[in-house]
Formats: sequence, structure tokens, C-alpha cells
Amino acid sequence: MLRPILFLALLCILLIYFRQSTPPPTTSPSSSSASNKLKHPKTSSNPIKSNRVVAIGDLHSDLPQALAVLQLAKLVDEDGNWSGGQDTLVQTGDIVDRGPDTIALYNLFDKLRKQASDAGGKVVNVYGNHEVMNLGGDLRYVTEEDYASFGGRQKRKEAWDVRTGWLGQMIYSNFNITYIHNGHTVFSHGDMEPQWARLGVDMLNHLSREAIWKSNYRYAPIFQGSGK
Ligand SMILES: *[C@@H]1O[C@H](CO)[C@@H](O)[C@H](O)[C@H]1NC(C)=O
Ligand SMILES: *[C@@H]1O[C@H](CO)[C@@H](O)[C@H](O)[C@H]1NC(C)=O
Repeated sequence: MLRPILFLALLCILLIYFRQSTPPPTTSPSSSSASNKLKHPKTSSNPIKSNRVVAIGDLHSDLPQALAVLQLAKLVDEDGNWSGGQDTLVQTGDIVDRGPDTIALYNLFDKLRKQASDAGGKVVNVYGNHEVMNLGGDLRYVTEEDYASFGGRQKRKEAWDVRTGWLGQMIYSNFNITYIHNGHTVFSHGDMEPQWARLGVDMLNHLSREAIWKSNYRYAPIFQGSGK
């Protein structure tokens, strides 16, 4: 019964900020009234650009439900390709653990980052505690199917190596602990104590990258809550 529960949880955390920019001016204002544009936005020579920001949380190695949620949000098509145009998708971490589809999901986001960028949109990946744990060798939530999908425990360990593994490197070069959208909205996986927030996004990203690179998140103050 894990999957229906996951799906409900995903729906609950699916935050969609629907913001449409004002229609761009046409080259010949007299030929096209504002009401025409509203009635026929799709046939306009200047289609209205969507710039939604959609945040989706914990996917936990469940590819079918991840695709269902992304399709529901109209960010990918039925083939799993980016269809979000200029929208921004923020995945707030915990792609891994509790399910079998770890490799498929990280590869999906790797593809979507490129496809979205080509379309003028953006896919942002934020670290969850489960990414940080796996990169730090804390494997307590890894399932047997997950190990098998990597070809066994040793191969999985090598893949997650932050310096030399294909997945560790992919995550390290594309994820950050926080993301600030248009300078005013900050996304992170969990809560953020005020004394950390005061450091600002760049410093938080710097400190967390340093700890993740050294694989010693357990001892890094930035991952210790209030630090008290
Ligand atoms: C989906 O993307 C792949 C490349 O990643 C491409 O080969 C395929 O044609 C795309 N499918 C559609 C329907 O655009
Ligand atoms: C991660 O954060 C740093 C500092 O905020 C930034 O310079 C860098 O471009 C970010 N990396 C990605 C992949 O967004």
C-alpha cells in the first residue's frame, strides 16, 4: 500500500504557483484587440508564455508515480519528455531510497534538466537528506531491488562515490542544498534554522558542498539542526 500513500503525499506537496506574464505587445496593435488575444491565445502569433514554478518533493525511487505527478503538473509528456516550456520545476530532494527506481529517476532528471534548458525552462534539483545520507555512506533505507539495480552492493557504492562515481558526480555537479527563485523564494528540503538562513543561499550551498565532498555530513555543523 506504499504507492497510493506516496501518491497522495506527492499530491499534497505539489505546489503550483500559476503565474502568467502579461501578453507581449503585438507588432501591429491595431489589428489585434486585447479581447481577441484572450479568446484565442493559442493562435496568437505571440503565444502567452507560462512561467509557473512547480515544486515536487520526495519521489523515493518510484518512477511510475513520479511520472504521474509530473504529467499531472503538465511538465512532461506521455513519453517522459519535458513539456513544461518555460516553466521551472524544483525537485526538493529525496529522489532515492524506499523503492527500486533510483537509477531511472536520477537519469530522468538528468534528461529533463537538459530538455527544459533547451526549451527556455528550468529543472532545479535540491538535496534531500536521503541524497546526503547516500553520498555519506548511510544506507539504512536502501532496498534490495535498489542494490540489485546497480548490480550489487559494491557497484552501488562505487556509483555513489562523490568524486569518482557516475551518480555521485552527477548529483554533486547538479544539486544544491538551497535554491532561490528570482531572488525572492527559497526552496529547501527541510526546515532552516534562522541562524543558518542568515548566512544566505550562496554560503549555505558552499558549506554543504564542502561537507558532502568530504563525505562527513554527520560532523558538519550545517547538517546538525540548530547546532546547539
Ligand atoms: C523524447 O526524447 C528523446 C530524447 O531524449 C527523443 O529521442 C524522443 O524522440 C522524444 N520523444 C518525443 C515524443 O519527443
Ligand atoms: C549551487 O550554488 C552555488 C552558490 O549558490 C552556485 O554558484 C551554483 O551555480 C549552484 N549550482 C547549481 C548546479 O545550481
